[in-house]
Amino acid sequence: MKGLILAGGLATRLRPLTWVTNKHLLPIYNKPMIYYPLQSLVNAGIKEILISTSPDHAGQFANLLKGGDQFGVKLYYSVQENPKGGIAHAIGLAEEFAKGDQIAVILGDNIFSYNLKPIVEKFKKQDKGAMIFGIKMPGMESKHYGVIEIDSVGKIISIVEKPENPKSNIAQTGIYIYDKRVFDFIRKQKPSARGELEVTDLNNFYLKEGTLECGLLDWWIDAGTSHDELLHANNLVAEKVRLGQL
Ligand code: G1P
Repeated sequence: MKGLILAGGLATRLRPLTWVTNKHLLPIYNKPMIYYPLQSLVNAGIKEILISTSPDHAGQFANLLKGGDQFGVKLYYSVQENPKGGIAHAIGLAEEFAKGDQIAVILGDNIFSYNLKPIVEKFKKQDKGAMIFGIKMPGMESKHYGVIEIDSVGKIISIVEKPENPKSNIAQTGIYIYDKRVFDFIRKQKPSARGELEVTDLNNFYLKEGTLECGLLDWWIDAGTSHDELLHANNLVAEKVRLGQL
C-alpha cells in the first residue's frame, strides 16, 4: 500500500500566517503540522509516501522532510496546480505514483493518534473496497463535514456532504483507504455545486457497491480550518504529548 498526504491549497482562512508559507508547515506544539499525518502513515507501516503540495511551497517541504530517511520511508513530492479541484481531484493526480497499488490518503492538517496498522494489514488482503474514518461530534457540529450514518452494527447507511439536517453526529474525517480502482471511480466523477470533485461522492461509489467500511476515531483535530482551531490543536497536542498519548 502506498501513502498520500494532501498538503496543497491556499489556506486563505489562516492569513496572514499563510501568505509566505503553506499551512501544513505551521507549528503544532513542537513540530510542523505535516509531521503528524506523516507519522500516522509511517506507524501504519507504509513505506512509500507522496506529499502533494502547492507549486510555491514544494521546495520548503523537500527542505524539511528530504528523502524520508529520518522517518525510515521513501518520500516523493508532487504539485497540485489547481488548488480548488477538490480532494478527489487531488487523489486522482497520484495515479502514476500508486502504480496499481492500494492507497491510504490523509489530509495534511488531520491529527489523530489512532493506530492504522491493523486496519492497513487487513485491508492489504482484500482485493476491493475502501475505508473511511468517522468521529463523533457534539450537537449538530457534524453538519460542517461529510456526515456518516451507520446502523447498530456499524454498517454504513449513508454519507452526505455538509447536510443541513445531519442524520447522525458522526463526521467524516480526512483519512481514507482505497483499492486500486479508486482512479477509475474518480474519472467518472462530476464536479459538485462548489465546483469540486468531492471525496464524499467518491466514497459513495464504494457505498453503493457495498464495499465501504467505517472505523471510528476517539479523537481527531482538523487543525487548519481557522486560527482558533490552530490554537486548539497546539494546546491539545501539547497535552497529548505530555500525557504520552501522541
Ligand atoms: C472535506 C470533505 C468532508 C470531510 C472534511 C474533513 O471537507 O469534503 O467530507 O468531512 O474534508 O476535514 P472540506 O474541508 O473540503 O470542506
